[in-house]
Amino acid sequence: MTTPLRIALAGLGTVGSGVIRLINENGAMIAQRAGRPIEVVAISARNRDRDRGVDLSPYKWVDDMTDFASDPDVDCVVEMIGGSDGPALELARNSLRGGKSFVTANKAMIAHHGMELAGLAENQNLALKYEAAVAGGIPVIKGLREGASANRIERVYGILNGTCNYILTTMEKHGSDFNAVLKDAQDLGYAEADPSFDIDGVDAAHKLAILAALSFGTAVDFDGVEIAGIRNIMAADIGQAKALGYRIRLLGMARIDDGKLFQRVNPYLVPESHPLAHIDGSTNAVVAEGNFSGRLMFQGAGAGDGPTASAVVADLIDIARGDSGTVFAMPVDEMAQSERAESGNRTGKSYIRFVVADKPGVLAEITAAMRDAEVSIESLIQTEKTEEGSVLISMVTHQSMERDVVLSLQKLSDSSSLQGAPVVMHLLSDED
Ligand SMILES: NC(=O)c1ccc[n+]([C@@H]2O[C@H](COP(=O)([O-])OP(=O)(O)OC[C@H]3O[C@@H](n4cnc5c(N)ncnc54)[C@H](OP(=O)(O)O)[C@@H]3O)[C@@H](O)[C@H]2O)c1
Repeated sequence: MTTPLRIALAGLGTVGSGVIRLINENGAMIAQRAGRPIEVVAISARNRDRDRGVDLSPYKWVDDMTDFASDPDVDCVVEMIGGSDGPALELARNSLRGGKSFVTANKAMIAHHGMELAGLAENQNLALKYEAAVAGGIPVIKGLREGASANRIERVYGILNGTCNYILTTMEKHGSDFNAVLKDAQDLGYAEADPSFDIDGVDAAHKLAILAALSFGTAVDFDGVEIAGIRNIMAADIGQAKALGYRIRLLGMARIDDGKLFQRVNPYLVPESHPLAHIDGSTNAVVAEGNFSGRLMFQGAGAGDGPTASAVVADLIDIARGDSGTVFAMPVDEMAQSERAESGNRTGKSYIRFVVADKPGVLAEITAAMRDAEVSIESLIQTEKTEEGSVLISMVTHQSMERDVVLSLQKLSDSSSLQGAPVVMHLLSDED
């Protein structure tokens, strides 16, 4: 057998220690598939004494992981730390400048700095791989970059955050409220102590920006993603969506609209007939619609040590085989910054839910604002009283310009009848 691919591993938490376990358990088979062994030669994390449930004694411990970049015994640096900037970014830059291939699971870093890092890698013919950064164990990067590469992708969308999907589908199953389910999810370890990146949609937006770049050949544009999370979704919304034949899912949605890039993370009402409506718990799913392939759906575990390590080691196998490839689906120099499409120009049906004071005339006030903004109401689904004595009013609009829906809500922004900002969700359709 030929020389091993020698890797240095920075970060030994959930994913980093999962990578060591996987290489230990499947090493012989991996060596056959890769054509040579993958060997961990050095490791680093913050706390050398922490028990990580895996024997680390065979590996050289390095206190300062920046040393990996200049270590002649290292071919490839694997970053399993996290964070868009800070030590992860410094390590990525130094490693690539030092001539090392680089593998990461860090979506935040790729979403913010992927173009710069891809430039560094491609200029030197080095691999920069990040399969685990999007949808954990699902081989969607490979699927889009290789399997679907003959297609023009019309749109790419999906359930990109397992924590949100767990919360929404648990609310759906038990009729429970958001805060109660979030607390349970935290107790069970499905949600972080600070869950804001997940529940406010930022994590899904990182992944969406990467998927959009891969799918459309446009520069990664995280700042162009419109982001809304799931904090304001009530059990009543889920019940009312169900009554209409829909389920609520937080979706990342990207497409090219008249030559401009549209990217949004938002809760959507997904028709029960759509496969995404049946993705439950912490599972992730990505749909890509190609002009020749038709609809492709990638589904599986979006997180966890095993699935994420599986994606990381698949990247290492590619590198061991000598496949550095382009970082995205085309050379980074040819990926142009796209103009951003305005969501206001989009047309579709929207679900709108108001919490209002229980007093006469409120419904008339809302419907007048909508009429003035030329938004017509297809159905007023229900009005129901909350325990606090407020009233929930939910409705679905006819096909409307999104700009007009926003205008109708602006007309109500000073209303003393409204208690809190209305919640708006789009109904997923083939035109989204
Ligand atoms: N967890 C998942 O299921 C999952 C799924 C997909 C992608 N990812 C991505 O994978 C990456 C790692 O996630 P994780 O869940 O494994 O994180 P984690 O469990 O928190 O582990 C992070 C590791 O990085 C080390 N570290 C943190 N700051 C450091 C610093 N300044 N210098 C040196 N080492 C430092 C920590 O050291 P100590 O242990 O010594 O504190 C720890 O070993 C992130 O980019 C994440 O987004 C995770």
